[in-house]
Amino acid sequence: MSRLQLEDLQLARGGQTVLEHLDGRFMDGAITALVGANGSGKSTLIASIMGMLRPVAGKVECQVPKERCAWLPQQLALDLTFPMSVEELIMTGTWPSHGALKGYCAAHYRRGREIMARLGISSLAHRPLGELSGGQRQRALIGRTLMQEAELLLLDEPFANVDIETVNVLTDVLRDTARQGATIIVVLHDLEQLSRLADDVLILAGGHGRWASPESLLERYAGQPAKAPRLPFIFPDTLDAGTV
Ligand SMILES: Nc1ncnc2c1ncn2[C@@H]1O[C@H](COP(=O)(O)OP(=O)(O)O)[C@@H](O)[C@H]1O
Ligand SMILES: [Mg+2]
Repeated sequence: MSRLQLEDLQLARGGQTVLEHLDGRFMDGAITALVGANGSGKSTLIASIMGMLRPVAGKVECQVPKERCAWLPQQLALDLTFPMSVEELIMTGTWPSHGALKGYCAAHYRRGREIMARLGISSLAHRPLGELSGGQRQRALIGRTLMQEAELLLLDEPFANVDIETVNVLTDVLRDTARQGATIIVVLHDLEQLSRLADDVLILAGGHGRWASPESLLERYAGQPAKAPRLPFIFPDTLDAGTV
């Protein structure tokens, strides 16, 4: 089953084509790693899936309702001077389906506390967002998507500037969320993270996309000197037949 499909998609930025002839389906209950060099169009594709960038041609078919779609941008425009606590941020995850003005009920607060415990941030509940480390902030942001009961999660480089313990916690949480049926797309740069997370891989290069299995990538790059090579440095700018 797939609630998200790309059909001969073409996307442009500033009048320049970034991606074309992009096809494929993202499976329900699976995590797809989106990889490619800087500038290959990963964030552009995510913006288009979120409906924030209109295709030049082709289309994105998404059957997940808007209120169940969550997007974690690459560099989140979070106003860190805004006086909001971790718990308050997580509770805003109810807004897309419940509305912002109705207030929260006891069941919402209970769920919020369960989510914070799951993410190991219970002790930070009343901490202002401006005082969090990168990893703590990322846990809180993922907490908000859990509160939202998101069924489509688009995570743009969620592990950048994040400590290893947070990576481990979020890896487990994302795997569980997929197991419960969510469709997850995550921009990754690290082969080890890819091996732990991804069920499927979409590689962007030279304006085109290519689907691959994590196993085929690991096999191809296994034995290279670095254990966890950073993907942008090993992926070519163009995808010739047989590259991957
Ligand atoms: N707002 C924009 N206006 C013009 N060009 C853009 C804009 N955003 C991205 N681009 C260009 O689109 C291409 C793809 O960018 P992006 O999707 O951000 O790549 P990635 O996320 O893979 O690093 C790049 O060439 C980038 O310079
Ligand atoms: Mg990007």
